Parts: sequence; structure tokens; C-alpha cells
Amino acid sequence: MTSSSQHSPGEPLVPNVKQALTRTERELLLQIIPDRIPAHVAIIMDGNGRWARRQGFIDRIRGHEAGSQSVREAVGTASELGMKTLTLYAFSTENWQRPAAEIKALMLLLEKFLREKIGELNENNVRLIASGRISDLGPKVVRVLNHAIDATSANTGLTLNLALSYSWRAELTDAARRIAAEARNGTLDPDAITEADISARMYHAELDDPDLLIRTSGEMRISNFLLWQIAYTEIYVTPVLWPDFRRRHFYEAALDYQKRERRFGKETRR
Ligand code: FPP
Repeated sequence: MTSSSQHSPGEPLVPNVKQALTRTERELLLQIIPDRIPAHVAIIMDGNGRWARRQGFIDRIRGHEAGSQSVREAVGTASELGMKTLTLYAFSTENWQRPAAEIKALMLLLEKFLREKIGELNENNVRLIASGRISDLGPKVVRVLNHAIDATSANTGLTLNLALSYSWRAELTDAARRIAAEARNGTLDPDAITEADISARMYHAELDDPDLLIRTSGEMRISNFLLWQIAYTEIYVTPVLWPDFRRRHFYEAALDYQKRERRFGKETRR
């Protein structure tokens, strides 16, 4: 896929940013090339627990609370930059193994975000979708999530894709089950299965693959995230912990991405 944005080449970005910017933010923003903004950015939001510990909090939930603010800022920034899709790894299938109190707090934070931010998502023309084994979240969260999805479904700006009870292996397993069922009932010929057939059975097959994957907190891992979709995605790892990840850090990631030469395995330009 190619990178694109909703801005025309040469159009300055600054007027599209609603918020008053600091000098650093403005300087960074002015360096961003509008027609080379990554269209789809995926983020592994890591480091909430470490952030809480470093702040002296005993409860790591304080890190998740602070991380919710970063989610809000990242959505605003992605939207202002004219990105098409922002996929956030909010809760993995592995996260179900965390202590019950932490899971409960994370579900409450998600519910709070979904209840309180619908207005803001609509103001910013953001459409919400979710990827993962959504029914695992339980009927209450599913109801609130579906309401937020419905309430924002007509928006045409940024698509915010929340990965919830998500893991790549679960996504692949679910796709394999669908493919096997279709082969069994005769609607899919096993000998003729193509890569496109597999892509079409991902949770949100309509989304283009991510152009840029950001991981916060410095860990060099993919953690079971979108492994099919990131085959040619540029990876950016920052030591910044997710609760500290601000607009400026998002700009830095976009600028770093713009320095990359994407070849998709094809010949080099020498
Ligand atoms: C990883 O940090 C982060 C998570 C498991 C959850 C991410 C959740 C949020 C950012 C807040 C709620 C989300 C929304 C969409 C409102 P970690 O706990 O693994 O950190 P550590 O590696 O430092 O322990």
C-alpha cells in the first residue's frame, strides 16, 4: 500500500491543528511533509506499569489511567495530521492473565473512555471500530462499545481501531476456522486459496496494512500484534513510556518514518 493523507501536497499542516502548540511542537510539525504522512499507524502502548512505579505509585492502575490521557491525545494528533487509521493495542488476549483487579480497572477505563469520549470523537469526525475477540469483554463492555461504534459510524475522518482481547494468533486461528468452514461447505476451494483470501478473513479486512508501527517503552518486541498486516510496516521504537507519550513524540515518529525508504522487497534505488 502507499502512504497518503487527506492533505494536498504543499498545503501547510499547522492550520489543521486546533490546539495551541508549544514552540517545539510547532518546529516539529513544520518539518512534517504533508503528503508523506503514514496513512495507518498502529501503536503498542507499553510502559504504563513502569510509569506508575517510577512516579512512586504502588498501584499500576495509575499508569493505565495516565495512559488513557495519552490515548486521547494520540487520537487527536492522528486526526489533525490527517491519518486515515490509528490502531491501538489496548488489551491483548494474554492480558486476561493479569490480576483480576487490574483487568477490572482496565475494563472500567475502557468503558469510561467509550462513554465520555463519543462527543469528542464525533467533533473530530473519528469513526470507532474494534478488532479482537470482542465477546470476551463481557456483555456490559460490549454494549457500551457497540453504542460508541454505532454513534460514530457515519464519521469520515480518522478510523480509530481499538484492538481489544486481540492477539495475532487468535486472529489467525479465527481466520483459519472460517476458511476451514468455507472449505467444508464447498464455498472455498482449498487448492485455490490465495493470500487475498486469507487477508479477507482478518477482523477488519477493509483496512490497509499499517505504514508505521510505534512501540513505546523501548521493548524490541511485536507481542503477538498484527503479524500478517505488518509484513512491510516501518517499525519505530521509542523509550518514552506510554503515559508520557505526547503530541511531540507522535510528530517525532512521523518524521522518522518520513526518512525511511520503503521498498516492499523490490529493487533498491541506487
Ligand atoms: C501496557 O502497559 C498497557 C496495557 C496492557 C493496557 C493499555 C491500556 C491503556 C493505555 C488505557 C486504557 C485504554 C483505552 C483505549 C482507554 P504495561 O502495564 O504492560 O506496562 P509495563 O510493561 O511497564 O508493566
